[in-house]
Amino acid sequence: MTDRKLISLAADVMANSYSPYSRYKVGAAIECSNGTVFTGCNIENAAFGVTMCAEASAIAGAVSAGERNFKRIAIISEGNSYCLPCGTCRQLLHEFAPDLEVLSARADGRYVSYSLSSLLPVPFGKDHMSNL
Ligand code: THU
Repeated sequence: MTDRKLISLAADVMANSYSPYSRYKVGAAIECSNGTVFTGCNIENAAFGVTMCAEASAIAGAVSAGERNFKRIAIISEGNSYCLPCGTCRQLLHEFAPDLEVLSARADGRYVSYSLSSLLPVPFGKDHMSNL
């Protein structure tokens, strides 16, 4: 799948964003190693801390469907800045895919690419608990 196709899937699901508080719509599409794609949008809540990011929604769908091998995620938001995963989402993504490629797109279609390892360079992960 091309980068542009994955980004367009993220843009499609962004339309379903429930974001009445921030008014900042976000969509994410995560591509599995077998080519399957799961999408998710941000889901806000009157209790603000309960809000789910688009990336977390996409991961929840994928893992619930039995997929844990990911190679790429595309994230898109409205406006002209690149929406990058928040710290919590970087950690969520690291759990399953430390080598993930992260595409971040703007509304005008321009996008940037990062490795997750560059966004979360010194992570905490399952290896830290394997020496107990
Ligand atoms: N948001 C995401 O969905 N993903 C991110 O990586 C950053 C932030 C959402 C959460 C909230 O609904 C809104 O953007 C403003 O923070």
